[in-house]
Amino acid sequence: PPLDEIINLHDFEAVAKAVLPPKAWAYYSSASDDEITIRENRAAFQRVWFRPRILRDVTSVDWSTTILGQKSSLPVYISATALGKLGHPDGELNLTRAAGKHGVIQMIPTLASCSFDEILDAALPGQPLFLQLYVNRDREITKKYVQHAEKRGVKALFITVDAPQLGRREKDMRMKFVGDAGAKVQEGQKDIKQDQGVARAISSFIDPSLSWKDIPWFRSITNMHIILKGVSTPEDALLAYDAGLQGIVLSNHGGRQLDTARSGLENLPPIIAALKTRGPWPNPNFSVFIDGGVRRATDVLKALAMGASAVGIGRGFLYAFASYGQEGVEKSFQILREEFEMNLRLLGARNLSELTPDMVDASGLHQH
Ligand code: FNR
Repeated sequence: PPLDEIINLHDFEAVAKAVLPPKAWAYYSSASDDEITIRENRAAFQRVWFRPRILRDVTSVDWSTTILGQKSSLPVYISATALGKLGHPDGELNLTRAAGKHGVIQMIPTLASCSFDEILDAALPGQPLFLQLYVNRDREITKKYVQHAEKRGVKALFITVDAPQLGRREKDMRMKFVGDAGAKVQEGQKDIKQDQGVARAISSFIDPSLSWKDIPWFRSITNMHIILKGVSTPEDALLAYDAGLQGIVLSNHGGRQLDTARSGLENLPPIIAALKTRGPWPNPNFSVFIDGGVRRATDVLKALAMGASAVGIGRGFLYAFASYGQEGVEKSFQILREEFEMNLRLLGARNLSELTPDMVDASGLHQH
């Protein structure tokens, strides 16, 4: 269908499913094992209800924010999704260009199809970018990569901590990994297994020995903000806080890692409660992000009301560029803008700081 017939982020998924080669669709849409977590990521948002306030003069509303010190036109960032060229010849550059034009922040994946420098070269001067890091078994490779990113102006490092080994995504595994799939495989990659699906074929360099003991080393090689991507429990949230990091992403990797792990939204209340034992919330020096299943501004507004600093979207933007390239991503931003404007008005909040915990009823979040 023509792009102007797309009216929400779900529509991009339906188009992507229809137009993508089966291997690309399998890699993008798959999740681990029985795909229970991916389903619950969406379902959890439907168990939180709004408590809208009235008569608050919502003539003008503003949904812009700051994420890790960087201006963002939306309280949403583009989360890292690997192998963009499986979906579109321009790969990740679709996201970079759309993000630059609309003031949105992109998290660049370690396993991007385009090289890191190609992506940086496609960005506007001063365009804020984050980097997602898979840590290489060869730490010298990781050190060079991180320091190069910092030199090129990347603002924050999101270390993925929920993937010491990639999950079994069976839809993807049934498709053999043939050819290079547009992958710029990391240096140090050995023994690429061709018969385990795309994900497993590209990920053998990831170091499963990564531990809390490595955090001081990361701090010593970069001054970028360091955020752990893939935290699920208050115990680990407090360890990250006490380690002096700048934030965490409550994420289950879009349901692609440990199946039947809880959704980020469900983990948010106990984690915010735990962090409040360390001081007032929100805390300007520590951010809590969530991702997983976010497709609507209402999803984002619920997470923000419950204490999240901003929200990541993976597949929503991935399907937008897989279907329509850069224009699709721009359209997805426009859809979100319109949804934020209307829903902030209907909720009775003029800006994001007026979103408070009493504007949602999350009492049913765990009752299902
Ligand atoms: C991902 N995600 C991911 N995360 C990461 O840290 N490194 C990576 O290389 C990838 N690659 C990747 C590929 C694909 C195809 C998907 C769908 C996801 C996870 C991603 O950053 C994010 O956590 C989820 O996508 C969020 O869930 P939604 O928005 O896709 O529902």
